[in-house]
Amino acid sequence: MAVLNSDLKSYNTFGVSAQARAIHSIHTESELIAFLEEDTLGDDLVLGQGSNVLFTDHLPYRVGLIRLKGRHFNPYSENEVLVTAAAGEPWHDFVMWTLEQGFGGLENLALIPGSVGAAPIQNIGAYGVELKDSFFSCRAFDRNTREEKIFSTEDCAFEYRNSIFKSACKNQYVIVEVTFKLSRNNHTLNLSYAPLKNWFSNKNGDSLRPIDVAEAVCNIRRSKLPDPAILGNAGSFFKNPIITADFTQSLLTKFPEAPLYPQPDGTFKIAAGWLIDQLGLKGYRQGEAAVHDKQALVLVNLGAASGNDLKDLAQHIKKSVFNVFGITLEEEVTFYP
Ligand code: FAD
Ligand code: EPU
Repeated sequence: MAVLNSDLKSYNTFGVSAQARAIHSIHTESELIAFLEEDTLGDDLVLGQGSNVLFTDHLPYRVGLIRLKGRHFNPYSENEVLVTAAAGEPWHDFVMWTLEQGFGGLENLALIPGSVGAAPIQNIGAYGVELKDSFFSCRAFDRNTREEKIFSTEDCAFEYRNSIFKSACKNQYVIVEVTFKLSRNNHTLNLSYAPLKNWFSNKNGDSLRPIDVAEAVCNIRRSKLPDPAILGNAGSFFKNPIITADFTQSLLTKFPEAPLYPQPDGTFKIAAGWLIDQLGLKGYRQGEAAVHDKQALVLVNLGAASGNDLKDLAQHIKKSVFNVFGITLEEEVTFYP
């Protein structure tokens, strides 16, 4: 297990500086067990690519970077295959590899940064699809007992940007491997998300392959979202809030053009980016922390922002949105320490 210098700047996509007590790079399951055994206070943090975290101060504990590698597949039924990847595999590379094998199911989730092991934590989602739609199981170690446990889809309690790993069992398990059930030939493509449907509007849907959808998704994403290698960010900083049908009706009387997405239980999801944009905050900056000028839901580090600068900007946004719309934004990004 390699021990690296203790600055986390290059291990989070915001690119903010923070010292950890030590940073360990974990490449095997036995290295992980050793790391967990040494964690006597039970407060160490495991990270994948650091693309959904904000460090607001130095971390008074160790950080373990999950770098376990490996992927394989086995037939499941005539039209389905089970594909397994180790937690440290980069998510996008894994998605593209499944598509190159001719498997369908993950194409709408192309180009999401991060690792395979972190993908179930918040049930990653994009373009009308969520991880839970093709998730089969994951294998994880209990941090306290070091016992291995297999989680089924039901066990994970997946919700919009949430799972048992981000709620009831937060920080309790380290995921080492994730298995997906993907299609082998009769693929069902999901083009329900408006920008994706528009992309293919003049094409014959019957001839489209999953890899064509992934390419479109990558193109659309590149036009909207900043590349963390160029401009530090963690994607959407807040979740899209869920509001009741009654609240939605009263909102629509004042803002008939509000982008709303009906949910199966009668509630509505409202686009947080639109709420922030309505306040004229796109491009707004406080020092080196700013609201992205193309997507108001993305906060960016213009270069020398600290985690606290970004947290202060997020507070300002939350307060402004609440004052005007009466809606409380909830962070998607997890703060540490
Ligand atoms: P990290 O940020 O390293 O960790 C996130 C959390 O998971 C932490 O709490 C960490 O402790 C925990 N964790 C990490 N690995 C493990 C493990 N193996 N076992 C247990 N716990 C673990 N997300 C979406 O859902 N949809 C999007 O469209 C999307 N777009 C994005 C675009 C950009 C430009 C960026 C920067 C981010 C985007 N994200 C999106 C957020 C992010 O990519 C995902 O949440 C991703 O799954 C995080 O992976 P990670 O490896 O970087 O996790
Ligand atoms: N909008 C604005 N102004 C803005 C941004 C958005 O008016 O500055 C409007 C758009 O015009 C559109 C609506 O808000 O009508 C939704 O915008 P967009 O399609 O860009 O998606 P989003 O709701 O901002 C969500 C996810 C993304 C995911 C995309 C595509 C959340 C919190 N975010 O963003 O996920 O990639 O949809 O499915 O659910 C992430 O989680 O990090 C992330 C990037």
